[in-house]
Amino acid sequence: MNDKPIVLAYSGGLDTSVLLKRFLLDGYDVIALTADLGESDAIAGGGAAAALHAVKAKALALGARDAVLVDAKARFIDDFAQKALHANALYEGVYPLSAALSRPLIAHLLVETAHAKGATVVAHGCTGKGNDQVRIELGVRALDPQLVCRAPLREQPLSRPDAIAFAKEHGVPIAHTQDKPYSIDANLWGRSIEAGVLEDPWNAPPEDAYAWTAPPAARPAQPDEVVIEFEHGVPQWNRLDGWEMVAQLNVLAGKHGIGRIDLVEDRVIGMKSREVYECPASTVLIAAHKALERLVLTRDELRFKALCDQRYSELIYDGLWMSPLRGALDAFNASLADRMIGKVRLSLNQGVATVTGTQSPFGLYSEALATYGKGDAFDHDAAEGFIKLHGLPTELVARVTAPPPFDKAQDSGASHLRQEVTT
Ligand code: ARG
Repeated sequence: MNDKPIVLAYSGGLDTSVLLKRFLLDGYDVIALTADLGESDAIAGGGAAAALHAVKAKALALGARDAVLVDAKARFIDDFAQKALHANALYEGVYPLSAALSRPLIAHLLVETAHAKGATVVAHGCTGKGNDQVRIELGVRALDPQLVCRAPLREQPLSRPDAIAFAKEHGVPIAHTQDKPYSIDANLWGRSIEAGVLEDPWNAPPEDAYAWTAPPAARPAQPDEVVIEFEHGVPQWNRLDGWEMVAQLNVLAGKHGIGRIDLVEDRVIGMKSREVYECPASTVLIAAHKALERLVLTRDELRFKALCDQRYSELIYDGLWMSPLRGALDAFNASLADRMIGKVRLSLNQGVATVTGTQSPFGLYSEALATYGKGDAFDHDAAEGFIKLHGLPTELVARVTAPPPFDKAQDSGASHLRQEVTT
């Protein structure tokens, strides 16, 4: 009779099914935890719920004491992806951090389930050379340092043939595992595809790696236009917001092949890996959010925020979602979001989301200042004095380092400089 409760993050795949069985054999009382992050809703809607209920049923059939299925779609988008959107978070400039954002949420769910079920041990199926072990375990430790977090696939790496052999011996069903060409992770913010032929970075990603984005030949010739409305930095489209908007936008942008990313990236543990992504909705939303920022924020805010945004994406990638720095950067982004109200129009076509218009009551763009036509309100005289003072430090250096011909020139042309230096 097993009496040590353990909460296992359970996907229903071969590895976590083998782990579930091994924990049972080790005398654990297994509570399987499965999170619905919109992996299937992202594209099709129907069928997702049924598939996840099958995962839950599989855990129970394997002998789990309990199987918990949590619908975390709204929480994922509202509390995690939305914050990343405020930060235009793109790791190494291109990856919207879909998998990375989900891991701290899974850590929350593991800890909450452990507390609810009276367990002091939690476990996950991440390997020892990936990023996800770091993200989940740092999350669990930040939320409840008393909990023990087990990582059996790191403690004792399991080869695929060994996993299959164990599964056969212990009655773990092996579903469609004949030739699993890739390792896939998906949620509403994007789909990650790794391993198989992609391990050689010279190999172009085959079409069969993609599931959410149409291949070039199947994309519509005509663009679709979308208008994203932002209310304090929170997007709305088609009268939808939150996870349902993201799900529908994945379908529309995916139809145009938008959001394909191929990245040789730097993992937390130091090695490089090659991952292919398809992130239709997040690509469109980040492009729209950036465009509105360009209209609304001052030059100084934009320059400083770009540094913060890069740091923010590194924190997410590196598993430091729970760090106080992330909270502080959220507060900075939230204060700028006060003015992030407006509309962005984009054209979706042939793999590209192009911003074609921006509008905001807080926009800093002034046609009267910018125009080269009639009604120019810009003070041209002010520019002359500005140039003299703006360039003064550079000019001072030139004075003391310039070769002789320049010295002679100072006697005539640079006379203003002498006056400004002596007065
Ligand atoms: N490389 C991405 C990250 O670390 C995705 C990880 C999961 N990918 C996968 N195909 N299983 O955030």
